[in-house]
Amino acid sequence: MEALGKLKQFDAYPKTLEDFRVKTCGGATVTIVSGLLMLLLFLSELQYYLTTEVHPELYVDKSRGDKLKINIDVFFPHMPCAYLSIDAMDVAGEQQLDVEHNLFKQRLDKDGIPVSSEAERHELGKVEVKVFDPDSLDPDRCFSQKMQEQKNEGCQVYGFLEVNKVAGNFHFAPGKSFQQSHVHVHDLQSFGLDNINMTHYIRHLSFGEDYPGIVNPLDRTNVTAPQASMMFQYFVKVVPTVYMKVDGEVLRTNQFSVTRHEKVANGLMGDQGLPGVFVLYELSPMMVKLTEKHRSFTHFLTGVCAIIGGMFTVAGLIDSLIYHSARAIQKKIDLGKTT
Ligand SMILES: *[C@@H]1O[C@H](CO)[C@@H](O)[C@H](O)[C@H]1NC(C)=O
Repeated sequence: MEALGKLKQFDAYPKTLEDFRVKTCGGATVTIVSGLLMLLLFLSELQYYLTTEVHPELYVDKSRGDKLKINIDVFFPHMPCAYLSIDAMDVAGEQQLDVEHNLFKQRLDKDGIPVSSEAERHELGKVEVKVFDPDSLDPDRCFSQKMQEQKNEGCQVYGFLEVNKVAGNFHFAPGKSFQQSHVHVHDLQSFGLDNINMTHYIRHLSFGEDYPGIVNPLDRTNVTAPQASMMFQYFVKVVPTVYMKVDGEVLRTNQFSVTRHEKVANGLMGDQGLPGVFVLYELSPMMVKLTEKHRSFTHFLTGVCAIIGGMFTVAGLIDSLIYHSARAIQKKIDLGKTT
């Protein structure tokens, strides 16, 4: 009995007698409002708990011999498919011939509507038109015929390239390209350089699969060429990224950052450059690992307790404030009546 009496001293919640309690309308209102608020806060806490969080880590990339998949979807509203060549080169400027690719060219009319229902598969480094061929009898005839046919057309290039995971570039440029004493050149002799409008719209460009929340900075960019025969260079830094999903699925992909440079090119390789769209990519030595995780259940419990406890306390304060001020006002009124 003695021990129990001692224990009672530790009660942090001394109870008042039921008779001394008063129930008020103000109290009821505060209870209902605070109850609703509590429910709302609880639901938002629950919703937050049910989402996953993504935890980033940084490593030095030690993987070797992987391939880099480049997904491309670019529109050239003023570049007929017949003139456009696509090349992939490695860092030394040598053409990458063993590139696995699946690129298609779709002819577009001058309003951007596909001309044919079927797109044409494109071979790297090739243009359908022999722009300049000294062996053929009448080199200009075939060219001018195609040119006439596709004069006002545009071209959509889409598909993917799979290149070795080393720095390199790929480009879209008018004219047939070839290698001349280890220098990559494009034959532009038959083009009026004033007619080359390299205006382009990048619908999609990525270096691997998409993971939830990825930002591909070049998607949906529209670039208008203010002058004829412009050279656009995109300097891309590719950041290898591993995304670990909560269900254990591992996605090996890449993010990238990009800067753009543009200038007028007059068609000679060397200082002046070539008209076209060039994407020069480099690989970052650092790798990002993103891990999806469930949120901590104990944090959720703590949050719920904080909501319930905090709401009770605040509601109690407001209630007693209302109650006491109402009483004070009532007293004043009563005092006024008696005098
Ligand atoms: C290229 O075409 C765009 C329209 O798509 C136009 O605004 C721009 O002035 C043209 N550039 C040249 C040099 O003709």
